[in-house]
Amino acid sequence: MKRTSGVTIITLLGLLGTAGAWHRLASAKVPAGAEQLIHLTAKKFEYTPNEITLKKGVPVVLDITSLDRDHGFKVPELDVRADIKPGETTRVRIVPDRVGRFEFRCDVFCGSGHEDMAGELIVVD
Ligand code: CUA
Repeated sequence: MKRTSGVTIITLLGLLGTAGAWHRLASAKVPAGAEQLIHLTAKKFEYTPNEITLKKGVPVVLDITSLDRDHGFKVPELDVRADIKPGETTRVRIVPDRVGRFEFRCDVFCGSGHEDMAGELIVVD
């Protein structure tokens, strides 16, 4: 929906007949890859949220921050993995190509609850 409105704005500016400056302005407001951003935090020993619903075929960017120490983020079935480090934001782009439930989990040992640090991506049509 955001993308559609961005395209509309650019089209309208184009119709106004103004040149490059306007176009650049419009482009700046709708950066390339303006996917939906979903913020996630990781801490011993949980992700928040730990359940995320996505739509099949719709790209999203997970914006993941650690609140304490190094963690990992792995979705084996979607071939996704990343390191999550405190003080940094890790962005993971996902285009879910299948409907279903896909577990994500921490794959960097982070303490006694590491094995239970997990969540679920739910991909719907
Ligand atoms: Cu978090 Cu292992």
